[in-house]
Amino acid sequence: MSKVAIVFGSPRKNSNTHILVDEAIKGLNEKGVDHEILYLNDLNIKGCQACYYCKRNDTTKCVIDDDMQKVYKAMEESDGLIVAAPIYFCEVSAQTRLFVDRLFPYYDMHLQSAFPQGKALSFIITQNQPNKTLFERHINDFKMVVGMLGYERKEDLLVENVDKGYKPMVTERPDMMDKAYKIGLELLN
Ligand SMILES: Cc1cc2nc3c(=O)[nH]c(=O)nc-3n(C[C@H](O)[C@H](O)[C@H](O)COP(=O)(O)O)c2cc1C
Repeated sequence: MSKVAIVFGSPRKNSNTHILVDEAIKGLNEKGVDHEILYLNDLNIKGCQACYYCKRNDTTKCVIDDDMQKVYKAMEESDGLIVAAPIYFCEVSAQTRLFVDRLFPYYDMHLQSAFPQGKALSFIITQNQPNKTLFERHINDFKMVVGMLGYERKEDLLVENVDKGYKPMVTERPDMMDKAYKIGLELLN
C-alpha cells in the first residue's frame, strides 16, 4: 500500500491548517493511500547543532537521537510528503524551521541530495494576511530547501486571510477545501 508522510507544523490540531490537512487526507483515502501525520509540536526535536557529524562521516544519519529520527524514517519509508504549516512572523512556524534545518544530513556540502529520489511533495500553508505575495520569497525558499531533497513537486496550496477566532474559518471557503482535497487525491498520481 502506498503511503504519505504528513509533516504538520502548526501547534493547533483544530484550526485552519489541520482542517486543510484533513481534506487532503480525504483525497488520499479516496485513492487508497495510507498516511502518517507527524505533529512537530508534539515531538522532541532539537535544532541542528552544526556538529557536522553527518558531513565528517559522510552519512545521512543525524547523530542527534531525538524524535526527528521518527520523521526521517517516515519520510524515507513513504512515497510522498505533505508539509503543512502556518506563517509566523513572515516565515513558517519555528516548529517547521527546526524540521527544515534537520534536513542537513541529506545534503552534501555542494547541496547534492542523498535522499531517495522521486517521491511526491506538496505544501499546504496558511496565513492571516490577505496579500498572498507578502511572504512569497520566504515561502519559495522554504519549499526549495525541502524540494531539493529530490522530491517531485506537485500542486501546493497557500490559503490567505485565515486566523481562527478573528477571520472566517477555511471551511467557509469551498474552493480552498476542494484544492486541499485535490492535493491528497493527486499527490501520488
Ligand atoms: C505567533 C504568530 C505569528 C503570526 N505571524 C503571521 C504573519 O507574519 N503573517 C501572517 O499572514 N499571519 C501570521 N500569523 C497568523 C497565522 O499564520 C494564521 O492564523 C494561520 O492560519 C495559523 O494556522 P492555524 O490556525 O492552523 O494554527 C501569525 C500567528 C501567530 C500565532
